[in-house]
Amino acid sequence: MNSNLNFDRHRRLRRTSVLRTMVRETFLRPTDFIYPIFVTEEGSNIKSEIKSMPNVYQYSLDRLDEELDEVVALGIPSIMFFGIPKVKDAVGSGAYDEQGIVQKAIRQTKQKYPDLVVIADTCMCEYTDHGHCGIIHNGDVDNDESLTYIAKTAVSQAEAGADIIAPSNMMDGFVISIRQALDEAGFSQIPIMSYAVKYASSYFGPFRDAAESAPKFGNRKTYQMDPANRREALREAESDIKEGADFLIVKPALPYLDVLRDVRNQTNIPLVAYNVSGEYAMVKAAALNGWIDEKAVVLESLTAMKRAGADMIITYHAKDAIRWLREE
Ligand code: PBG
Ligand code: ZN
Repeated sequence: MNSNLNFDRHRRLRRTSVLRTMVRETFLRPTDFIYPIFVTEEGSNIKSEIKSMPNVYQYSLDRLDEELDEVVALGIPSIMFFGIPKVKDAVGSGAYDEQGIVQKAIRQTKQKYPDLVVIADTCMCEYTDHGHCGIIHNGDVDNDESLTYIAKTAVSQAEAGADIIAPSNMMDGFVISIRQALDEAGFSQIPIMSYAVKYASSYFGPFRDAAESAPKFGNRKTYQMDPANRREALREAESDIKEGADFLIVKPALPYLDVLRDVRNQTNIPLVAYNVSGEYAMVKAAALNGWIDEKAVVLESLTAMKRAGADMIITYHAKDAIRWLREE
C-alpha cells in the first residue's frame, strides 16, 4: 500500500465499543416513549390480543391495572388511551360522555398513578357508527360542526384528569377550538399535542382492528394528508403552532422521516413521532417468522426516528424497547 495516499480514516473512531459510544450522536432513553393502551367498555375480565398486533391487547377496566403496573414498573413515563365504546352513534356521543370508557380509564389511572402522564387521544372515529373522525353531512365530514364535538370531547377528558389532550381528527381549526374550550373550562394548564401532520396512510390498518374504527364507507382522504406531499406538512405544522399547539405529532413515522426532519428544521416545538400499528405489525410478522432480529431492528428503527428529529416516540414497542435498552 502506498502510505502517501491521502484519505480520511473514519474507522479510527469505530475501533472499540467505548469509542463508538463516545462519538454516538443519538440516544434512546426510557423517557422518550409513550405507550398506547386500548380499553374496551364491553364485558369484564377481558385481556384480548389484537390479531394483527401480537402482544398488544384490549383491556376491560377491571384488568387495566395489570397493564398500568407493568408500564410503571418499567419506567415508561406516559401512556395514551384509546377507547372502544359499547355503543356507537352518528355523533359519537361516547367520546364526550362523562361516564365514557376513556374518561373512566383516565380517572382510574390517575387515582392509582398520579405521576403517570396520561394522554387522551381525542377523536370521534371509535365512537361513530359510520367510523369517520367527525360529523357527516352530505357524505363527507363537516369540518366546523365536528369542531364543536372534538372540543367537547377534549374538555370531558380534561375533566376526567387527562394531563395532555391529543386531537387526531385532522379538522382545520381543531387546535384553536380545543384551546379555547379548555381555557373556558379552567384548563389553561393542559397542553395540546396535535396530530398536526397525519397522512391518509394504509399503515393504520391494524389499529382500526384494535380500535374497531375503520370507516364504514369511503376513506379519510378528505381530511388526512396525501402521502405524496412534503411541503404541505409544513403548512399543517405552521397552522397548529399558530393556533396554540404545545407539541406536534408526525404520523406514521418510519415512511415519513423526511417530513419529520423538515418539521424539525422549520420549528422549535417539541416533536413526537407516531410509530403506527402497521409499522409494528410488519416488524412483528417478520420477527415471528425468524426473518429479522426483532430487538436489533426495533432499536435501529426507533433510533432513526430520533435521529430524524423526534423528541418522543409513541410506540407499541415501548415495553420491549425499554427492556432491551436495560440489557445493553
Ligand atoms: C384516530 C387515530 C388513528 C390512529 C391514531 N388515532 C386511526 C385513524 O386515523 O384511522 C392510528 C394509530 C395506529 O395506526 O397505530 N383518528
Ligand atoms: Zn379518528
